[in-house]
Amino acid sequence: MSHADDHEGTRRDFLYYATAGAGTVAAGAAIWPLINQMNPSRDVQALSSIRVDISGVEEGTQMTVNFLGKPVFIRRRTADEISAARDVDVSSLPDPIARNPNLTGDVPATDENRALGESGEWLVQQGVCTHLGCVPLGQAGDFGGWFCPCHGSHYDTSGRIRRGPAPENLPIPVVRFEDETTLVLG
Ligand code: FES
Repeated sequence: MSHADDHEGTRRDFLYYATAGAGTVAAGAAIWPLINQMNPSRDVQALSSIRVDISGVEEGTQMTVNFLGKPVFIRRRTADEISAARDVDVSSLPDPIARNPNLTGDVPATDENRALGESGEWLVQQGVCTHLGCVPLGQAGDFGGWFCPCHGSHYDTSGRIRRGPAPENLPIPVVRFEDETTLVLG
């Protein structure tokens, strides 16, 4: 079997039907170890992708999915969260880089360069604090975004580090819309 055949035979795309409730998180956590076992090697795992149904995510809420062993926050932001995120001077940020692999190069950390789509309604980012890797809490902290209680890192509504020991903004995964209600991660 060639390497390409091996890849095709082992790669699996998964569709998560989910709402923003706690049940979603539990289901994702239970399913992921099984998926992980089915992936035979790191390079195959790195190529895998998942589809996420976001139709059940209400404005002002967040759903969390597990992807490649890490939580990914998918937040549907309110107009106030978007305007707070956009009303920030990028040069004042501790980390002025967007950390968005979907854009080419180290582009500035404007909210427009971090949100998915032009409206800014959706923000998708890894839920892993860039200090030592804890999972930050949502709608918390001094900037109304995410707060990592481990050592006190405050992220704003664009997931940018604003205060505390974390050195970088929350990283954005490779992500795109497949259609209006479906995201593809990876
Ligand atoms: S791991 Fe988040 S502040 Fe230390």
